[in-house]
Amino acid sequence: MTVWTPTDDGHADLTSHDTFIQGAPHNTFKRLRDEDPVHWTPYPSGEDFWSITRHADIMEMNRNTAVFSSARGIRMEDQSHEEYLARRTFQETDAPEHMKTRIKVAKAFSKPVIAQFEEDIRVLCDEILDEALAEESFDATKSIARELPMRMLGRILGLPDKDLPWLVEKGDALIANTDPDFTDHVLDKLETDEFRMMPFNSPAGAELYVYAKELMADKEAAGDTEGVLHMILQPDKDGNTITEEEFRNFFCLLVAAGNDTTRYSIAAGMQAMCHQPELLGQMQSEDIWATAPDEIIRWATPALYFRRTLAQDFEAHGKTMREGDKVLFWWSSGNRDEAAFDDPFRVNLAREPNRHVSFGQGGPHVCLGMWLARLEVRVLFQELAKRIAHIEADGPHEFLRSNFVGGIKKLPVRIKRA
Ligand code: HEM
Repeated sequence: MTVWTPTDDGHADLTSHDTFIQGAPHNTFKRLRDEDPVHWTPYPSGEDFWSITRHADIMEMNRNTAVFSSARGIRMEDQSHEEYLARRTFQETDAPEHMKTRIKVAKAFSKPVIAQFEEDIRVLCDEILDEALAEESFDATKSIARELPMRMLGRILGLPDKDLPWLVEKGDALIANTDPDFTDHVLDKLETDEFRMMPFNSPAGAELYVYAKELMADKEAAGDTEGVLHMILQPDKDGNTITEEEFRNFFCLLVAAGNDTTRYSIAAGMQAMCHQPELLGQMQSEDIWATAPDEIIRWATPALYFRRTLAQDFEAHGKTMREGDKVLFWWSSGNRDEAAFDDPFRVNLAREPNRHVSFGQGGPHVCLGMWLARLEVRVLFQELAKRIAHIEADGPHEFLRSNFVGGIKKLPVRIKRA
C-alpha cells in the first residue's frame, strides 16, 4: 500500500508539469516558505515570475487588488494582449468591471440558493454509489469522483443529460491540457499555436464554443430563458452586455472549473480515508459535517496556484517586485503552512478555524462555485460513510501531469460494504 508523502528533494522545478506527477512538491514549498518566501522563479518557457508560498503573504497580497491585478492573465504561461482579449472571462478582469459581471450570477451560486439542491445531490450520490459500490475493488476517481460534479452542474445550467459525458471529456481536455491521458494536444509537448485564441490553447475550446452557441439557440427556440446562462447575458446597471466571446469563455470556464476541482476534492478525501482509517469512523459517528468539507478541500487543494500581475512596484521580505512582473499565489503551499495550520499534513475533519485558501479566499475572485463544491463534498462523504465498513488502497494512486490542477486521476481502492 502506498501512503503518500512528498518525495521531491526541496529544489523541484515548479514550472515543470512532470514535477507534479509525484504530487505537489511540498518539500520545495516548505523550503521556500522557510528560506525565500518571495522567490524569483526561472521559467524557461516564458517570463520568470515570483512565487509566493506563505499563507499570510498570499492572504495579504490576494486582498491587495490595486497592486495584484488579474487583468493580464491568471496562468503561468504568457499571453499576448490579443490572446488575452480572445480568451478572457470576468475572472481575468479587475474592479469595477469584474464585479459588474460577477454580480449577475452571484445569487445563483450563493449559499441559500445552492442549499436547495441538497436533495438532488443526494439522489445523484445514491445512484453513483449504488453502482460503484457493487464492486469491492475499483478506481474511485473514475467510478465516484468523476461522476458527480458534471451531473450536478448539468442540473444547474439546464444541460441535457445525454450531453454530460461529452462535456466531462471536453472539460478534461481543457483543464488537463498537459496530461496525455486527457488530450491529444499536450500543451508543452506539441505545437498548439493554432489554438492560441482558444481557452487553455485547446481544440476542445472550439468544440465547446459551438456547443454553447447551439445550446443557447435551442433554449431560445424552446422559450427557456431561465437559469445561470441567461443571467450572464443580461445587461448590467449601465446597460452593457458581455460580448459573445466572453459568454463562450464563461461557458468554458464553468465546464472546466465546475468539473474537475470538485472531482479531485472527492478523490483526495477518499485517498485520505485509505491512509487515515479513523476518518471513516468519525464520519459515521461524529458531527463533523460543518467542518469536514473544508478540511477535505484544504487537503486536496485542486487549484495549485493562480497568477496575478503587478500593477505597481511592491516590496515584501526584502525583495522588490516590479510593475509588470508575474506573481503566483501557490494555494497549495499556503494550505500546508505550519504557521497557519497545526499538523498540516494530517486530515483533521474537526479543524476549526480552517483558514484554507483552496478557493482563493480573501480576494474578490474567491471561487464562485464554493458553496456548490462544499455541498457536493459533504453529501457524497455522508452517503459513502453510510454504505461502507472499510476502505483501503488497492495499489498506488496516480497524479495528474499538471502544475496548475492538483489531482489524483487514478485511485484504486478496495472496500467492504457495511
Ligand atoms: C473544490 C472545488 C473548487 C476549487 C478548489 C475551486 C478553486 C477556485 C479558485 C482558487 C478560484 C479563484 C481564482 C483566482 O483567485 O483568480 C476560483 C474561482 C472561480 N471558480 Fe472555483 N473552484 C472549485 C469549484 C468550482 C465550481 C463547482 C464552480 C462552478 C460551478 C467554480 C467556478 C469558479 C468561477 C466562475 C471562478 C471565477 C470567479 C471570479 O473571478 O470572480 N469553481 N475557484
